[in-house]
Amino acid sequence: MFIIFAQNKGLMNQKKENWGSRVGLILAMAGSAVGIGNFLRFPIQAIQNGGGAFIIPYIVSFVLLGLPLVMVEWSTGKFGGLHGHHSPPMIMQRLDHRKIWRYTGSLGLFSSLIISSYYCYIESWILSYAIHSVIGSFRGMTETEISAFFDTYLNLKESTFGIPYDTLLCFIFCLWLNIFIISKGINKGIERVAKICMPMLLFFGLFLVVKAYSLKAGDNGAICDGTTAIDFLWTPDFNSLSNPKIWLAAAGQVFFTLSLGMGAIQTYASYLKRDEDIALSSMTSAFTNEFTEIILGSAIIIPIAVGYLGIDKVVELAQTGGFGLGFRTMPYLFGQWGDFLSAMAGLAFFGLLFFAAITSSLSTTQPFVAFLSNSYNWSQKSTSYTLGAIILIIALPCIFFFEKGVFDQYDFWGGTVALFLFATIEAIAFSWVMGIEKGWRLINYHADMQIPKFFKYVLKYVTPTMLITIFLAALFKPKNDDWSLISLKGWPLDDSAIIAELTHQGISADDPNIAYIDGARIGMAILLVLVCVLIWHASYTREQRILKERREGKL
Ligand code: ALA
Repeated sequence: MFIIFAQNKGLMNQKKENWGSRVGLILAMAGSAVGIGNFLRFPIQAIQNGGGAFIIPYIVSFVLLGLPLVMVEWSTGKFGGLHGHHSPPMIMQRLDHRKIWRYTGSLGLFSSLIISSYYCYIESWILSYAIHSVIGSFRGMTETEISAFFDTYLNLKESTFGIPYDTLLCFIFCLWLNIFIISKGINKGIERVAKICMPMLLFFGLFLVVKAYSLKAGDNGAICDGTTAIDFLWTPDFNSLSNPKIWLAAAGQVFFTLSLGMGAIQTYASYLKRDEDIALSSMTSAFTNEFTEIILGSAIIIPIAVGYLGIDKVVELAQTGGFGLGFRTMPYLFGQWGDFLSAMAGLAFFGLLFFAAITSSLSTTQPFVAFLSNSYNWSQKSTSYTLGAIILIIALPCIFFFEKGVFDQYDFWGGTVALFLFATIEAIAFSWVMGIEKGWRLINYHADMQIPKFFKYVLKYVTPTMLITIFLAALFKPKNDDWSLISLKGWPLDDSAIIAELTHQGISADDPNIAYIDGARIGMAILLVLVCVLIWHASYTREQRILKERREGKL
């Protein structure tokens, strides 16, 4: 008890960071949520799951799963932050003083590390494609050539810029950029970047939406109007309500798009001040994400692709996933608009993706920075660069052995299972361990809007039940691919990714990639153990420091 009290006082000695303004906070939170998931994953999920069939389960999952978990992460994050804790392990420890709770936070740190490593890699593809669009690399290429260009880009031995190892160099640049911004701190780094990136993203997005919906049959080879996609995407199909696969896909999309279970929202919320509202701010950022996802996300690649290729072909292409449509097909379709407009459209599309991606990757990087600086009293700068080195080491297998299925393994275990488990634990800890009465008070403390009481019951009963049901359904059906629906999966790039997935499901043990897949799994298991050891060491070090400061009369 004494240690806990002393820890609370110990925070007085640390430099306290806060968000500079409410607008900055909301933009940073929305920036965390708005990511490549909104523009590549959502439209593909919608098409793969029957267009209008997807939207009802999606909205229900958003209300019963997404919004309650957003409230849990904002309120627990703020609560932890007021006691000087900014990382998932220590925030979880605040909900219940038993030490075991801090180790549940290892899942949040683990998923944030793994996601940061592969997300940053995708970010580097996007940046390269924006540059290639502007310098005209795709000019005059056929659809097949642009598709082959992507394979060349991913092959580390080949170069698309004429610089050896350019794919790797671009990744290192993106990682450095993230770390550089993080090293500037919450207010001068993350908040400032969100204030630039979010408006830019909306500007590029609106330009593309106008282009997409003004596409008319006959324009530059278009075979139907861009608006044809609206009917396909938004006609609800009530039969979907009885299909569990569609429910799982919808729940997974809600999870991923709101950045839940990654430690990101909790950590950002921990920099709120005591009397700051969370009810209105959290709802504003969640609905900003939904606007960007449902309105902008569905109104760019789908109408353009449907306009040029027709609905049947787009449905077929969607089976190759969002990466395929985004990187293999879109540069070709933009090419139909002439040299200047295609360069502008490529810049707008990949620029939009880049701005969306960087504000998300910053948020998945910050939890570990907060953990190290909080525990060891290191400066934000040295912590950021140390973390940069750690992310580089974790990302290298994913980059070098991407086509061997390592990326899929990272996405499955780090970007799906870990975050799903962590969110389930958070929901139970919030409503049943800490107690819904206290939780509800935290959500409504100094609130600028009244959250309907209906959510109190949803938080206590519905959300945990839904999460546990999904988890059990996946656990007892390991041979079907339902888990894949709650991740970036469904984005296989080529046969090797599909083979890797089949191997993962135990269908073929003879696959030559199995050694890489096992290696990735063992590596991740070791990483999770190391994170737990680090949590133990960090807590011990922090306690010793506080005892020493107390002995010296500094507390
Ligand atoms: N929420 C982020 C995205 O949608 C991770 O990409």
